[in-house]
Amino acid sequence: MTRRPYIVGNWKMHGTRAMLSEARAIDRAAQRHMKVEVALAPPFTLIHPIHREAEQISVGAQDCHQADGGAYTGDISAAMIADAGAKFVILGHSERRQGHGESDALVRSKARAALAAGLRIIMCCGETAQTRESGKAVAFVKKQLKASLPDPADTPADVAERITIAYEPIWAIGTGNVATTADIAEMHAAIRKLLIDLYGEEQGREVRILYGGSVKPENAAEIFAVPEVGGALVGGASLTADSFMGIALAAGEPSDH
Ligand code: 13P
Repeated sequence: MTRRPYIVGNWKMHGTRAMLSEARAIDRAAQRHMKVEVALAPPFTLIHPIHREAEQISVGAQDCHQADGGAYTGDISAAMIADAGAKFVILGHSERRQGHGESDALVRSKARAALAAGLRIIMCCGETAQTRESGKAVAFVKKQLKASLPDPADTPADVAERITIAYEPIWAIGTGNVATTADIAEMHAAIRKLLIDLYGEEQGREVRILYGGSVKPENAAEIFAVPEVGGALVGGASLTADSFMGIALAAGEPSDH
């Protein structure tokens, strides 16, 4: 069984209650595009209000803490975001790895906590421009991903349901520069092989691998036609229903693979 394309909007630190109307419009449009699974990761403050109104889309968080609770001022646990209505959490985004010094080991402990709280995870990976120029992008991403994902022994049996990967080359995020389809194909094939090595043929093959980095309605169809691309993690273009659903529409079109 091949899973539906998964289109996830990462609102980053954008959105006050004034954006609820946009989330509503996305939810309404998603009801007309059932061939695609649409989800939004708004800031923590909007998880509950969006979840309360949403009929079709699922809502997630952009991060969580690795502990269940305790003296961690300003942090939020996986159980808290689940309680607010989140069904998934994005982990290991490069803006957290770089801006908050998150190591692979920390990301892995967050993943373990999120899965234990019953959440699905979207595990991000991606190389810098410098690593790509040095020809080491594939080796870097494989190592990063292997060190960030929980051990297969700590992973629920329904891996493909619970885990999604997002490949986001750092130099493509918010820059308007998209990786070439050849580079995306090479990276996604390498990630697929790693997933099969980790989780076995049946589950490893089903895990969706999203592409992220300057995805827009104009370039989405070309990206979705690349083998092993199972959807997109969208930043800037997810902030309006028009552009976000333009991307979702492109994912619902039949392609040749
Ligand atoms: P942009 O789509 O704005 O490049 O952001 C991508 C991203 O970081 C999604 O997580």
